[in-house]
Amino acid sequence: MSNSRTGVPVEAPRYLEGRLHWYGCDLHETAGLYETPAHVGCTEAVRDSLEAFRTPFRSAGLPAEVRYSVKTNPLPAFLEALRLQGTGFEVCSNHELDLVNRMGIRGEKIVATGLRDGFSFAVRAGEIGVEMLTVATEGQLQTIVRENGELPDRFPLALTICPELLRGRWDLTLNTGAKGAATGFRPGSALLEEAMSAIAAHRKLELVGLHMHIGSGIRSAAPYRKGIKALERIISTAAQFGQSIRIVDIGGGYGLKSAPVLGAWKIVSSLLGPGGAPSAAPSADSILADVTQALADSFARLKRQGICPEKVIAEPGRIVSGPCQLLLLTVVDVIDRGQGSRFLLCDGGSMAISPMLMTEGHRVLSVIEPDGDLLRYRVLGNMPTSLDRVSASALLPMMHPGDRIAVLDTGAYFISMNNTFSGPRPPVIWIENGQARLARRRETDAEVFSRDLEPGSTTGKESSP
Ligand SMILES: Cc1ncc(COP(=O)(O)O)c(C=O)c1O
Repeated sequence: MSNSRTGVPVEAPRYLEGRLHWYGCDLHETAGLYETPAHVGCTEAVRDSLEAFRTPFRSAGLPAEVRYSVKTNPLPAFLEALRLQGTGFEVCSNHELDLVNRMGIRGEKIVATGLRDGFSFAVRAGEIGVEMLTVATEGQLQTIVRENGELPDRFPLALTICPELLRGRWDLTLNTGAKGAATGFRPGSALLEEAMSAIAAHRKLELVGLHMHIGSGIRSAAPYRKGIKALERIISTAAQFGQSIRIVDIGGGYGLKSAPVLGAWKIVSSLLGPGGAPSAAPSADSILADVTQALADSFARLKRQGICPEKVIAEPGRIVSGPCQLLLLTVVDVIDRGQGSRFLLCDGGSMAISPMLMTEGHRVLSVIEPDGDLLRYRVLGNMPTSLDRVSASALLPMMHPGDRIAVLDTGAYFISMNNTFSGPRPPVIWIENGQARLARRRETDAEVFSRDLEPGSTTGKESSP
């Protein structure tokens, strides 16, 4: 069932006949079959998550299209499940461009971001015929203006705007849109005016859009409202000078209620404290309904001035992919220090699996239904340091070595930021119609070592085998 308020109607795993199930799949059995640590994703979760994301845009009457941010989860099985639901993609490197190109995604469904890979990325984007390339700095624009030779005519550009938001001292969520952020053209600045004039005057370039991407894990609509107002003012001014902006791209950044990004202070204090407080669930409901309303209001004001942008692009990452994956781990040791200080050591934590386990609060469940009192545990990976975190505080039944747990909502940045700290990376199991299959096999030791060269065996130039 879709719910425009929560934005995340993905089924939560639940107990059936004493075992944790997710979309019809027995997670206890799956953990035994494939061994742990293992990521587990699900096609039906992708369908539900995406529908929940799209619903508020639709309800607000916005002509919106999703360009999923590939860096958030570049797993082909996951991207394919999104493609089947009709999304396009946001890519920021030649590597990501290749990935979506191999999947057969047409250029007009691809937004290319920045020049991280230099001008060759713009050339590739031009060849593929992307919807637009967003540029976020004067240097990036100068490169394109200077080296435009290989670009097709009317190459579509969008400027990334930084709305200069104020952010709290310990807030880690408003990075890219905050005052002092490195990139993004500032509203009302001479640099923005010059950038718009330079594109207008260029025979090959066309300014089709404005873009913002203000951060990640954001829990309130207020920063989006400020950003949308800034975009509206720029669109309105541009129209007075005869420049019509067709596309308004509001980026991603929406926080996931069930796995919040923690404040810097909370991260530090939970490293120092013996048990750590449980992660407070954010009180705010989904912000999407408010953001889409603000956007619809903005479009209505522009329309009254005779300005009608054709399309809204949303580049969600975390909010769409987060709930589509979970992580299965096995308990390797249980330590009880008395006075309620209990630790579980598992076969993966923030060091070996992903640093996201350090900066986000994730729910942890036993794959076997608890039948007694629940105990509070601090859950760590296999490095006995608080830096190797799974959860600062989890309520679980009495646990023993060999027991399995599921860490929920691990679909965002866990695969793209998966470490090889002390071992190879885990497999990804994929559920569809209640059946589990292997979507990515476990990395082998040989694969981890395969890039190491014997002394003297290098030609002095990087070469692939
Ligand atoms: C340009 C751009 N768009 C969208 C996203 C997705 O962000 P999130 O996962 O916070 O929604 C990112 C992530 O870094 C990004 O860089």
